[in-house]
Amino acid sequence: MRILSGIQPSGKLHLGNYLGAIKQHIELQEGGDAFYFIADLHALTTVKDPQLLRENVRDVALDYLALGLDPARAAFYKQSDIHEVPELAWLLTTVTPMGLLERCTSYKDKVARGISPDHGLFSYPVLMAADILIVDAGVVPVGKDQKQHVEVARDIAGSFNHLYGEVLKLPTDRILPEGGVVPGIDGQKMSKSYGNDIGIFLEGKELRERVMAIVTDSAPVDAPKDPDSNNVFNLIKLFAAPAETAEWRRRFEAGGLKYSETKKRLIELLDERFGAARERRKELAKDPAYVDGVLRAGAVKARKIAAATLARCRRACGIQ
Ligand code: TRP
Repeated sequence: MRILSGIQPSGKLHLGNYLGAIKQHIELQEGGDAFYFIADLHALTTVKDPQLLRENVRDVALDYLALGLDPARAAFYKQSDIHEVPELAWLLTTVTPMGLLERCTSYKDKVARGISPDHGLFSYPVLMAADILIVDAGVVPVGKDQKQHVEVARDIAGSFNHLYGEVLKLPTDRILPEGGVVPGIDGQKMSKSYGNDIGIFLEGKELRERVMAIVTDSAPVDAPKDPDSNNVFNLIKLFAAPAETAEWRRRFEAGGLKYSETKKRLIELLDERFGAARERRKELAKDPAYVDGVLRAGAVKARKIAAATLARCRRACGIQ
């Protein structure tokens, strides 16, 4: 089974990204032929600062490698290194009805949020289809916000095959469970764009400040408290063992609990979970040549397949 997923290089990754995608991507590399790439061509639709883009790509590469992406199992590459992708995207674009793209909610949302709608933003799903189809991916594990895009990829592949014969493999999505809703420090869903995120690689004073800023109510210490509406409890339960979570629930309900104690424990849990990854990340950051080498080797592996798929498509549509 070949699995593929792309990661937007949109800056420092946070706990929501970890539980919603990264952790699961890393687990999936055990069970199949995994292809993971950094979607830098897609990032150009929103990041127009070259230095920032370079930094973001490097950060995501370090984050994934530090958190356990194993380049011996999964091909890990930069999208822009696969020159076959934009060429296939053009072939696909010529069989993509305007209406299919006009219906994409992600495009409409981005425009509503004030991103200026250039043509790249509009045709984003076609490029995404090319990413998927170029390596004959069977399964595409994504968050539910990307489900529609995978369906569009399937539709586009279907149109191409309908016109030119069975040349493209139809992918299926695999919607990653959200791992529970991950609340940000203000209790809304954790998201970089809300500015309420907690970075995976924060540590020491910075992590402490961020956790201390988590919003809690001002119930007196003695009062019994509702764990389920408490932002710290809702984060603790994502990282603690079930028995520990049950004990916190009991202590919330019993009264006499200081929120500062829960915050202290959350910091410990994050240190336990990410301590080793933070150290690995520091080591990797000292060795950019190694990271570049990983991405280059991943690209070589992906391009072998990509070249064969593109050749098939070129022949099928008559440019070769
Ligand atoms: N659009 C995806 C996101 O924002 C990233 C992405 C680009 C992707 N190409 C892909 C995901 C191909 C899966 C398959 O998360």
